[in-house]
Amino acid sequence: MFESSASVQPAPMIDPFGRTIDYLRVSVTDRCDFRCVYCMAENMTFLPKRDLLSLEELDRLCSAFVARGVRRLRMTGGEPLVRKDVMMLFRSLSRHLESGALDELTVTTNGSQLGRHAADLAAAGVKRINVSLDTLDADRFRAITRWGDLGDVMRGIDAAQAAGLHVKINAVALKGVNEDEIETLIRWAHGRGMDISFIEVMPLGDIEPSRLDQYLPLSMVRARLMDRFTLEESDHRTAGPARYVSVRETGGRIGFITPMTHNFCESCNRVRITCTGTLYMCLGQEDAADLRAPLRASEANDALFAAIDSAISRKPRGHDFVIDRRSKRPSVSRHMSMTGG
Ligand code: 5AD
Ligand code: SF4
Repeated sequence: MFESSASVQPAPMIDPFGRTIDYLRVSVTDRCDFRCVYCMAENMTFLPKRDLLSLEELDRLCSAFVARGVRRLRMTGGEPLVRKDVMMLFRSLSRHLESGALDELTVTTNGSQLGRHAADLAAAGVKRINVSLDTLDADRFRAITRWGDLGDVMRGIDAAQAAGLHVKINAVALKGVNEDEIETLIRWAHGRGMDISFIEVMPLGDIEPSRLDQYLPLSMVRARLMDRFTLEESDHRTAGPARYVSVRETGGRIGFITPMTHNFCESCNRVRITCTGTLYMCLGQEDAADLRAPLRASEANDALFAAIDSAISRKPRGHDFVIDRRSKRPSVSRHMSMTGG
């Protein structure tokens, strides 16, 4: 049903630092059914629905990037699975998996809607998904997500595994909130055959609590874990920035995503688009390019490809996140739910 009008064989995207861009993260909605304390303010103003790209437009945009050499697509949000009819987009994009143009179609989700979508995701060719989960304690879960229900997420994970999806857990390491639960989370995830990655809080968007109070360096987490487990360096790599260790006692893997203590920008292979068709070349920088105007201006992709080329030629070397007591402002004004995790 969704057709792309790419006719020529366009060149791959290579940025000024020689990095090949073959990974696209797509935020399909800025909305979410949770209000995680490190991510959102409780009263968020979301975009009016008319500003969003339609599912057809998202498909065309993703397909244009696939034509330009993107081999991995990840749907994010907000919470991608709260977007109405989002499964149509997955089903449509799966044609690129079938053609071999795409290696992987994935999703990052909070798990709340997985119970009803897991089987459809698997049917659309999704093999691996990331589920965000910071605690196994129902009260704590409610405190972190403000609106979320742990039971829903657990049922979602069950459904995902039953559908044959490989689930990876992503947990944000939060000082004084879940730092006493890290080992429990690892044993639980590994016990269910899931890898787990920990993420440092990033200064994205204005929120009520101070990020400085939330920030827990993963170097500390890792040092503490070495008292409990035998950690072995792993050469396992996904397309993402996580660095993995294997745990001898559990046979599972732990990933560390350390935007604050260790800069992994050298190997950045990705760009992000928002649900309004804005292309961000870096999660940690403000520079962006509007792709909605060229997308809508013509049914041919020439103007779109020109806008993409111009944007890629400005991809910055990296972010410069700081969580600083003196500057009260976040490093980047938009929330994670805007550009996607
Ligand atoms: N810093 C770090 N991680 C964040 N996430 C959302 N906001 C932030 C932030 N400011 C996480 C979510 C999810 C992933 C998509 O990003 O918990 O795991
Ligand atoms: Fe929603 Fe994810 Fe942000 Fe939590 S972290 S509010 S689940 S987008």
